[in-house]
Amino acid sequence: MRTQVGIVGAGPAGLMLSHLLHLAGIDSVVIERRSREYVQKRVRAGVLEQGSVDLLVGSGVGERLLREGARHEGIELRFDGESHRVPMTELTGRAITVYGQQEVIKDLIAARLAAGGQLLFEVDDVVLRDLDSEEPSIRFRHEGRDVELHCDFVAGCDGSHGVSRGFVPDGVFTTYEREYPFAWLGILAAAPPAVHELIYANHERGFALYSLRSPEISRLYLQVAADTDIAEWPDDRIWSELRTRLETVPDWTLNEGPILEKGVTPMRSFVVEPMQWKRLFLAGDAVHIVPPTGAKGMNLALADVALLAKAFGAWYDGGQDELLATYSRDALRRVWRAQHFSWWMTSMLHRLPDQDPYERQLQRSALRYVTSSKAYATSLAENYVGLPEV
Ligand code: APR
Ligand code: PHB
Repeated sequence: MRTQVGIVGAGPAGLMLSHLLHLAGIDSVVIERRSREYVQKRVRAGVLEQGSVDLLVGSGVGERLLREGARHEGIELRFDGESHRVPMTELTGRAITVYGQQEVIKDLIAARLAAGGQLLFEVDDVVLRDLDSEEPSIRFRHEGRDVELHCDFVAGCDGSHGVSRGFVPDGVFTTYEREYPFAWLGILAAAPPAVHELIYANHERGFALYSLRSPEISRLYLQVAADTDIAEWPDDRIWSELRTRLETVPDWTLNEGPILEKGVTPMRSFVVEPMQWKRLFLAGDAVHIVPPTGAKGMNLALADVALLAKAFGAWYDGGQDELLATYSRDALRRVWRAQHFSWWMTSMLHRLPDQDPYERQLQRSALRYVTSSKAYATSLAENYVGLPEV
């Protein structure tokens, strides 16, 4: 088999890259370890920055997003028994849209298949070869057969557990990392959200987040210990803890309903530099992970591949390799802005197991400052809605 760009991974990064390349007249094949059903059902985050919405709409895959996504112009910060609104649109002129990642995945898969795109699901034993030559290839097993896919370039979009990075020699990459001593327990509930905007709550028992997916479905999260076993959290305990952490202001109650899905997500900050080696280009979670507090993961993946698609476009359109050469440097500027913002939101909102009273007071001061100073609130807002240039 032969293609121009071989793409490993059908998450937002891999699928969007394939879609943008197609629009530029460049052929690609996407190979994915899981089944189509699995990737379309995998519940993940759901906040799209204005720039991500513009990218999806501008490239012709935003029709359902515009119809079903919910535009939000502010968020609420809840602490010390009070609620404060950060009016993002008033402060920045931009907004976010809540639309589940798996919905973006469904839309992208449908668009690729409608355009005759090649997506191979349930592949195994992926091996990258000859990355330092002009004809790299990807070997894998698919439907019981060994396949060798020859390409001009390989795009490693295979997420945090991907294999692509592992085919680069030792000593090329520098890794930056931070583990947090807590995780998020997330639920999807058949309950009409009691909110119009997201609530980020700092409570002495730990962080909680109230989000939503639709007028009928709520999405909520609780900070829990890093080694939490989900079996220790029957539904009653989850609702009781959510009530304790969120029902801290007068006359406000949660809406409860059957829990449709629950899971524990570890919290990690992680960057690998550079995002390229020879003919291998890396994008999304394969090279950087942020804790979900800043809602940046999917947005970063989309921003990476927007740059990468442009760089491949320039290469195929007359052999200009300058944008490919600067891809990693340019993408990393946004990556590090998001790293700092996600770390800062995480530090301000969570309860650390060994937090001393001094740190606790600093955290409360930061929360009071960000909800009273227009300058500080604008800093939060412009990062949250996404900076156009970084
Ligand atoms: N071979 C083929 N596919 C693989 C392999 C492999 N060896 N390893 C992993 N994959 C697939 C995964 O099954 C997944 O579908 O690569 C895909 C990577 O997709 P994501 O994990 O969604 O990563 P990315 O596209 O970079 O998007 C980042 O996803 O995890 C969230 O919070 C994150 O929102 C962010 C977004
Ligand atoms: C979500 O809706 O899943 C969500 C929202 C905001 C976050 C993280 C996740 O910061």
